[in-house]
Formats: sequence, structure tokens, C-alpha cells
Amino acid sequence: MSIHINAPEGAVAESVLLPGDPLRARFIAENFLEDSECYNEVRGMYGFTGIYKGCRVSVQGTGMGQPSLSIYATELFNDYNVQKAVRVGTCGAIQNDIQLRDVIIASGACSDSGLNTMRFGSMHFCPVADYSLLSAAVSAAKNLGINAKVGLCASSDMFYDSRSTWQTWAEYGVLGVEMEAAELYTLAAKFGRKALAVLTASDHILLGTKTTAEERQTSFSNMVRIGLDAVTA
Ligand code: HPA
Repeated sequence: MSIHINAPEGAVAESVLLPGDPLRARFIAENFLEDSECYNEVRGMYGFTGIYKGCRVSVQGTGMGQPSLSIYATELFNDYNVQKAVRVGTCGAIQNDIQLRDVIIASGACSDSGLNTMRFGSMHFCPVADYSLLSAAVSAAKNLGINAKVGLCASSDMFYDSRSTWQTWAEYGVLGVEMEAAELYTLAAKFGRKALAVLTASDHILLGTKTTAEERQTSFSNMVRIGLDAVTA
């Protein structure tokens, strides 16, 4: 048992999918896993363990933003021996050649967060995806007929950022902005575990467009399949 996850040792699988939204964790457990059981309800941050293609997999909500994800990822790595963690979430696209609903497999995550400034001071750690998970996700996308883009995301601490800092990220080729991947990649490095973020463009910051609820559901399912295939490969 850890502070924010009320589950006995062994209740969480070594491979975990991490949506930000705990209700999406439940959706994934109910629609993609067999024999799923809920192991956590603390703060409504649901966690489930079930079976996907014969492999034991968990799915744990992380909440929004790096500080919240940091709590759950630390407890999963430190207290539950999680070896592979794949974030599945949305991002705002910031390049013209990224379309709404495109899947982005994040090879690395830039950030404006204070977390790594606290950890590293004037040194700049480079939060990157695990290559074996990245490569498995690319293969999974190909097998599913999904044209996924591989590149950088930026994990921001501000959803409502009137300074338009995304423009600087865009100039340097970053594909999309979200709020969690950099901390996941950093913690995976700290604990010697494997991590990846698979993202769907739910809105286009450059073009000012957004997906409908129905489009989000379909594209969410594509991303979940890629994440599950990668984490169980
Ligand atoms: N900013 C940050 N996180 C996001 C966004 C965004 O525009 N869209 C989806 N997640």
C-alpha cells in the first residue's frame, strides 16, 4: 500500500497504461481488458488490473499535470515494481502537418516545468522515451493501419497560457503540447524503468480547431490499442 494507491503488493501489473482521466482508466478496463478488477479508488483516481491478449496489464489514472502524475508514477515505480509505463493522453497540435486526431508517439518531452529545475538546477536533463517501447508502438501503429507521427512533445505546467509559449516550441519542431510526459520520462530514468507517451491531437492550437466528443472517443481507442500492444509486446 502506498499513500495514494490503496492496493496490496502484487495488485498492480508490471505493465501499466496511464491515462490522465480516471474515468478513462475505467473505460479502458471495461472495454479493452478481460477480467478486470479495480484496485484503487483513493481520491477517485481509479486503477484496474486485467488481461490484454493474455498479458496482465494495469491501467491507472494520473490526474492532470506533472505534479499529479509524479505522485502516481513514483508510487507505481517505487512501491509496486512497475517496469513499463505508457501514458495515453491528449495534446494540442502545434505544427501544420499534424492533423486533429493524429497519433503522436513522443520520442522526448521538453518542458517549462519547475520540477526538473528543482532536480537538476542549471543542468538540463533530457527526458526521452524508452526505445524498445517506442519501437513497439511504431510497429503496433503500422499493424493497426494507423499513421502515427514520432517526435517531440512539450509538457507544460499551464493549460491556459496567454503567453503563447507554444510558438517557441513550434519553431524547434515540437509536435504537440500536453502536461505530463516529461515527468514520466524523468521518473522512469530515475527508477531505471521503461516509459512512453502516446498522444492524440485533441485540439489544434495553430488552427484553433477541436475534435468532437465522438471523434475523441474513436481516436482515443486507436491510441489505447497502440499503447496496449506496445506495453505487452
Ligand atoms: N495544452 C496542454 N495540454 C493539452 C492541450 C493543450 O492545448 N490539449 C490537450 N492537452
